[in-house]
Amino acid sequence: MKIAIPKERRPGERRVAASPEVVRKLAALGLEIVVEAGAGEGSSFADEAYRAVGATIAPPASDTLGAADMVWKVRAPEAGEIAAMKKGAILVAHMAALTDRAGVQACADAGLAVFAMELMPRITRAQSMDVLSSQSNLAGYRAVIEAASEFGRGFAMMMTAAGTVAPAKVFVMGVGVAGLQAIATAKRLGAVVTAYDVRAATKEQVESLGGKFVVVDAEAMKTAQTAGGYAKEMSEDYRKKEQAVIAEHVKKQDIVITTALIPGKRAPVLVTEEMVRSMAPGSVIVDLAVEAGGNCAGAEADRIAIKNGVKIVGYTNMPSRIAADSSALYARNLLNFLTPMLDKQTKALAINWDDEIVKGTLVARDGRIVHPLLASGGN
Ligand code: NAI
Repeated sequence: MKIAIPKERRPGERRVAASPEVVRKLAALGLEIVVEAGAGEGSSFADEAYRAVGATIAPPASDTLGAADMVWKVRAPEAGEIAAMKKGAILVAHMAALTDRAGVQACADAGLAVFAMELMPRITRAQSMDVLSSQSNLAGYRAVIEAASEFGRGFAMMMTAAGTVAPAKVFVMGVGVAGLQAIATAKRLGAVVTAYDVRAATKEQVESLGGKFVVVDAEAMKTAQTAGGYAKEMSEDYRKKEQAVIAEHVKKQDIVITTALIPGKRAPVLVTEEMVRSMAPGSVIVDLAVEAGGNCAGAEADRIAIKNGVKIVGYTNMPSRIAADSSALYARNLLNFLTPMLDKQTKALAINWDDEIVKGTLVARDGRIVHPLLASGGN
């Protein structure tokens, strides 16, 4: 079986779907790997490093995609890439399928079998394949690094002969995978960290990392979580209460990092214009939800907006800013996803289409959209 690793085409995307470490493992499984020249550049993986572990390097204009049985990508393919893939080929990527149904339809029309990695069921067996977790974790880390670099003051308390530097006050909103890593990273840098989430389960997690939890409504929090562990949309009443408590807290913070998402929906606005105005000049907000509409009023995609001296960082693709690590972890997720699909003896693909992980991620096959979350139409 031939797996192609093309260079990512989307502007600003530095990641690549396979690292040399993972290519070595794929080659050891007897698979044939073709990497497009320069595909690993943004992640500091040289063509030579791939070649050394058994990959063939294909010149950019060659038919890398057309000859492949399987294509690994970070982001959903663009029209030209879809057209270049052969009918019946398997595509594995972060498809953003819930928000880009048209993209999935185009792949279905081209006869591709498509696995949308972001739909990985959150079950124990699938943890090592969970691209949302691996990428969010690094995004949370990098958000704090970006905040620290934009902040004109220190994070840690420093007592010097010339006087004391106060520790930074960091507030993390949304305590999923990204938020937890942001808390841990800000703590390591010496900040005083507080955090907030609608899900009650997060209070203990925040405290175990040495952060302080900001409580809005203890009762409403008990029912804010779905069976899958994600947040639900909260009532209007709750949102009002939330705003009052958060407003009071935000004005005393130096750094706010927002990570609140609701799968398939617009991100909730948690930091209003008024709250931004209440912060001291020099404060920094990093909005990790900007691609889903943003948690912070005034956040702008892929730039730093400045409002009354407060910087609002709106980078849409934070994992790409730590590309070597995010590519390496993404590639391992894909390897862990592929390995159980291979026949142990023949190393040929032997997909069990009834498996929970296969059914949970398969969005298109045989010319049709097949995932229950997408099959009914709409975008
Ligand atoms: P996410 O990226 O969908 O959302 C980030 C956070 O925003 C969540 O904690 C959510 O509760 C919070 N949020 C949503 N609306 C909010 C609001 N109005 N105000 C404040 N916070 C709000 O979540 P993520 O990071 O994907 O994690 C969701 C859950 O899944 C977590 O419990 C995580 O521990 C769990 N998980 C389970 C895995 C497994 O079992 N395989 C793997 C990874 C995560």
